[in-house]
Amino acid sequence: MLAMTRATAPTAIRTARRVDRFTYAIRNIVAEAKKVEAAGQRVRYLNIGDPNQFGFVTPPHLIEAVSRAMRDGHNGYTASVGISEAREAVAADFTARGVPTSPDRVLITSGTSEGIELALTAIVNEGESVLVPSPTYPLYTAVLAKIGAEPAYYRTDPGNGWLPDLDHVRRLITPHTRALVVIDPNNPTGAIYPNDVRYALIQLADEHGLVILADEVYGDLAYDGPVPPMATLDLEAPIISYSSLSKAYLAPGWRAGWMAVGATPRLDGALAAIKKLADGRLCSPGPMQYAVTAALKGDRSHQVAFREALRARAELTTARMNAIPGMRCVAPRGAFYAMPQFTLPPGRRDEDFVLGLLRAKGVLVVYGSGFGANAADGSFRIVFLASPEELGGIYDDIADFAKEYAKAG
Ligand SMILES: Cc1ncc(COP(=O)(O)O)c(C=O)c1O
Repeated sequence: MLAMTRATAPTAIRTARRVDRFTYAIRNIVAEAKKVEAAGQRVRYLNIGDPNQFGFVTPPHLIEAVSRAMRDGHNGYTASVGISEAREAVAADFTARGVPTSPDRVLITSGTSEGIELALTAIVNEGESVLVPSPTYPLYTAVLAKIGAEPAYYRTDPGNGWLPDLDHVRRLITPHTRALVVIDPNNPTGAIYPNDVRYALIQLADEHGLVILADEVYGDLAYDGPVPPMATLDLEAPIISYSSLSKAYLAPGWRAGWMAVGATPRLDGALAAIKKLADGRLCSPGPMQYAVTAALKGDRSHQVAFREALRARAELTTARMNAIPGMRCVAPRGAFYAMPQFTLPPGRRDEDFVLGLLRAKGVLVVYGSGFGANAADGSFRIVFLASPEELGGIYDDIADFAKEYAKAG
């Protein structure tokens, strides 16, 4: 072996400044939980929205479609936009839901996450801004940090079912604003927006030449049944919609998703830019693309049982949280998240409360400021996918802890 002689001591490789601005609290907080586990305490993880970790299983016909694709030799790269049959299935699904869509405006992506990253990267310049709900799913702000753009947080109001404050949205729009993110059904609040609110958001975007990024990954998980895509309200609106197999089809690890770029010619340039960027990453995982067709053209009856399981857990969560003195919780109407708010003693931050709960009781939730909420609001997100029995025990622990925390001041 050659021994290298160095004149100076080796220095650490420096990292790029953009990483300093990149945060993703949902996973970052796990480091704290690992320390608690290392000290010998059991931790119950209510931080990540992964139904498979809580016993919900991927429908067998999707597994069969992927394994058949592998056996049939579909293990090479696909076209960067995805295989034709999956693009056709997505287009047919949008069309059946009331948004006539052509397969050439559809891309198959590595989950909704890649759709978010492709759309923002294709549309937003450094220094420009994007309207993002507060609280938000944090990948939006993380990607904006990476591309040197800014979030403009618009308020959603817990006093009004976590609906967007339309006047606030309007006031935030500047000549540098490029896009409006709408997450409906919402993570982290579980809100579903009524048509008048959705329509008002479309009108605002239209007036100001903004593209709407419609995150519809929970669209099929509204407890009262699927929510129609936002684009049904205005087929000419510049809407890019995305979703995936992760949540409603119980296969988050497959990284299989799609995006549909609205039919308006105003989005032709954006579609071309997104396709250009997609070429650079070759393709999303190939065999999993075959499950997109199986999912959208096959049996969806698992969703009926899943929605009912979620509704029961949402009701339990809301009732138990609202029974805790100092806690308020808006009832979620879709997805598997709730965002309670606890009246904090003066000077305390949401993160103190959440880390205290983790260390005292071994319950991991995510603090609201990790989603762009105000740290003084005392909000935190619960993922309520565990069984009602387990959730019952966890909620006893949260109630005990909240009482002690309020007393300790
Ligand atoms: C609102 C929202 N968008 C996107 C994603 C990412 O989903 P995917 O697994 O499809 O990338 C999530 C995941 O939790 C989410 O909650």
